[in-house]
Amino acid sequence: MIASALFALAALLPASLATPIKPAFSNLSKRDLKAYAEEVTVHSSCNVTQTRQLRKALADTFELTAFAQEYVYRNGPSDPVYQLYFGDGDSVVVLGAYENLMRSNKEGVLLRCDDIDGNCVQDGWRGHWRGENATEETVICDLSYIDRKYNEQFCAFGYNVVNSSPSYYFSTDLMHRLFHLPSIGLGKIGHFADDHADCVNLAKTNGTAAVYNTHSLQYFANHVYAVEVAEGGEGCIGEYDSSGIVAPTTTSAAAASGTSSAAASCHTHSDGEVHCV
Ligand SMILES: *[C@@H]1O[C@H](CO)[C@@H](O)[C@H](O)[C@H]1NC(C)=O
Ligand SMILES: *[C@@H]1O[C@H](CO)[C@@H](O)[C@H](O)[C@H]1NC(C)=O
Ligand SMILES: *[C@@H]1O[C@H](CO)[C@@H](O)[C@H](O)[C@H]1NC(C)=O
Ligand SMILES: *[C@@H]1O[C@H](CO)[C@@H](O)[C@H](O)[C@H]1NC(C)=O
Repeated sequence: MIASALFALAALLPASLATPIKPAFSNLSKRDLKAYAEEVTVHSSCNVTQTRQLRKALADTFELTAFAQEYVYRNGPSDPVYQLYFGDGDSVVVLGAYENLMRSNKEGVLLRCDDIDGNCVQDGWRGHWRGENATEETVICDLSYIDRKYNEQFCAFGYNVVNSSPSYYFSTDLMHRLFHLPSIGLGKIGHFADDHADCVNLAKTNGTAAVYNTHSLQYFANHVYAVEVAEGGEGCIGEYDSSGIVAPTTTSAAAASGTSSAAASCHTHSDGEVHCV
């Protein structure tokens, strides 16, 4: 019985091997690489002054981002500053978020100056993501060219990481704006906590969310740049409470202090929500 069963099985083999398994997507065997744009495009609506400022701001953004990434590469996820902002969150996500900002294909990624959606008239607006009107485009309003600061000015003007807006510098502001773009944030980097205290708390209670939180990625980049590059010391960091763990279910709307509202910076999210930092 066994011998004949084996014989029957053997007889089936050539037939089954003769039937090729069809891959579901035969086109995946060879794909052309898309045209690659290394740099963000500055739109022709920007005049020379604006274009030069945006180019400087973009260079600052890459410097800030590259340093934050290098810090994580070198010190790893056990580093206390890493843990302050990301807790037990996966450092592969943090490294990848910064990497994608710097290296993703910038085809179609555009900064423009023509206020095409008519939003810049609103008080305090320094720019906005164009959302459903053009998902890879960002308008930078006139106010940005007047009061956004450059990396050389880190730790000046009374800035400190804890109490100032996470978008105080042009570089970290553009980091935020670029993370909104589908090609850079992949729709995964978003808003889970906003001010410094809430971001520190998010790291303690939900590291998985912290590594995808725009403001955590900004605060961390600002923190390591302020200390290591600008050499601003503790005065440039400010004071924060790293002890008490707040229960994750607690909403702390009352915790907002007036300090970060001084320089309102607003933009509109895809769902129409206006976000001011
Ligand atoms: C492969 O891709 C080309 C171009 O996108 C398309 O025209 C063609 O039908 C595809 N072939 C198969 C077998 O899916
Ligand atoms: C560019 O536009 C800004 C804002 O309108 C203006 O202040 C500046 O003088 C312009 N620069 C040039 C070179 O035209
Ligand atoms: C998209 O364009 C419409 C019409 O111009 C405008 O009302 C709306 O605010 C724009 N959306 C954004 C996110 O700017
Ligand atoms: C962490 O945050 C994410 C995103 O908000 C949420 O889906 C998840 O349930 C949270 N996990 C815990 C343990 O709170």
